[in-house]
Amino acid sequence: MQAGLREELLAALRLQIDWGVDEALEPAPLDRFAAPVVHPDPAPTAAIATPGLQAPALLAAALPAIATPAALATGRAAEAGSLEALRAAIAETDSPLRDTATNLVFADGVAESGLMLIGEAPGADEDRLGRPFVGVSGQLLDRMMASIGLERSKNFYLTNILPWRPPGNRTPTDGEIALFLPFLLRHITLVRPRHILLLGGTPAKSLLRAKDGITRLRGRWHSLPMEQGAIPALPTLHPAYLLRSPAAKREAWADLVLLRRTIDGEVAAG
Ligand code: URA
Repeated sequence: MQAGLREELLAALRLQIDWGVDEALEPAPLDRFAAPVVHPDPAPTAAIATPGLQAPALLAAALPAIATPAALATGRAAEAGSLEALRAAIAETDSPLRDTATNLVFADGVAESGLMLIGEAPGADEDRLGRPFVGVSGQLLDRMMASIGLERSKNFYLTNILPWRPPGNRTPTDGEIALFLPFLLRHITLVRPRHILLLGGTPAKSLLRAKDGITRLRGRWHSLPMEQGAIPALPTLHPAYLLRSPAAKREAWADLVLLRRTIDGEVAAG
């Protein structure tokens, strides 16, 4: 390679690093949730032609049943009988997010505490350490919870909608959420929390199947229907949003007071 061209390419690479590029990916995420497209061979050769079978039927007979990643995820999640088994099942599930992330971020805190917090997806710090909410927004979350007397090491349990960091911290796609939702529902079933705090719009919309945004959903208890019975879920603002919009801490504080009063039995969840 000519020296001039090499310098030019190196300069372009340095620029990308300076601007914070940390992954080399397609511009649009690949929807692995979509059913695979099978293109029938328009002219089957004499060698595989069977009398009475048309081309698509031939193909169907030749191909093993194709399980979509979402169907596989649902089956694996249902089989997990413990949190350890669930963690292993998630780790085994093929996903482009798994290829770009460093660590699986499963959960943190006390599973038996009765309170489960559900966030959106790991960021760079969580990806590096393999624990949810350990970065700046996680530190704010810990301080907010401490203000109502709740500590991660004693009083609550945390997980996310996605167990892997989306590259560049982009918003999770619908396909990614759908792929990991069976695992999250199984996670909730295994933990059996008495109350759930949903952090931000992504977990609130995905779990409550709501069309409204977080500002309309927050501040009141909703019912999350589960196999073992409905669980009260309280949507609130995500701590990362509060870092960007400190004035909104007033609403988040009102939500946390409602949470504390409900835990204490002073008000009913609903
Ligand atoms: N934001 C989230 O939603 N989850 C984390 O674990 C960290 C930041």
